[in-house]
Amino acid sequence: MAEKVRLQKVIAAAGIASRRKAEELIRAGRVRVNGKVVRELGVKVDPEKDIIEVDGRRIRPPRGHVYILLHKPRSVLSTTSDPFGRPTVIDLVPTDRRVFPVGRLDADSEGLMLLTDDGLLAERLSHPRYGHRKEYIALVIGTPTEKELRALQRGIVLEDGRTGPAEVKVLGRRVPQEVLDAGVPGLQKVSPRGFSWLRIAIAEGRKHQVRRMLKAVGHPVIRLIRVAIGPLRLGRLQPGQWRALTPKEKERLFQEVGLNHERKK
Ligand code: URA
Repeated sequence: MAEKVRLQKVIAAAGIASRRKAEELIRAGRVRVNGKVVRELGVKVDPEKDIIEVDGRRIRPPRGHVYILLHKPRSVLSTTSDPFGRPTVIDLVPTDRRVFPVGRLDADSEGLMLLTDDGLLAERLSHPRYGHRKEYIALVIGTPTEKELRALQRGIVLEDGRTGPAEVKVLGRRVPQEVLDAGVPGLQKVSPRGFSWLRIAIAEGRKHQVRRMLKAVGHPVIRLIRVAIGPLRLGRLQPGQWRALTPKEKERLFQEVGLNHERKK
């Protein structure tokens, strides 16, 4: 039997409105459940069985798997739950599906995360054989020299072995446009002397990998923002905001890991 979920969550998951807007719709008497107007916010429904209408139009739970892009803010955990009750990425996405994050970002890192209930896609994306590229923008102490950049590009020895090749570029002291577009908070337009912005892309996903790589060459990370996962980009998604993948993004992603996007659940 499907689990009962809050009405506003079901409306938001159907892509009709944000959770807050869904609450307004309910309060305004524009939502019916099994033919009856519901104005209270606590009501729980079975999205598979109950007939839910917004302005007379029936809404249905999305069919197939769900694929969500989220801009994880700093301090939010990229796990599905936390024994200490700290906020996780799951608290930010309004879906009754059992989605989970594909890959991790440190609590202190921010930016693009993919959440899905598609285990096969997650497995492929996490498999080293597919080695999909993750791109980060980092604010670091100091500026890597040419020699340090070459070392990062070739791979450096960490306690868990040599890293694979990386793409690394120094961007300068001005905050990159991409970071501004994504509304990353708390940054100075131009960082003080002694700090610089880098772009770094890797195809592995070891714990704290980018931070450890940069620390190993003498440039500890102050901020770390993921701006791309394979073909998916952070774009203008603001901290805490999420959206469903477009059909085109889904197709590109599936192609990258050798899955046919038309496949059934
Ligand atoms: N590398 C890191 O060090 N941290 C992250 O969150 C992601 C990649």
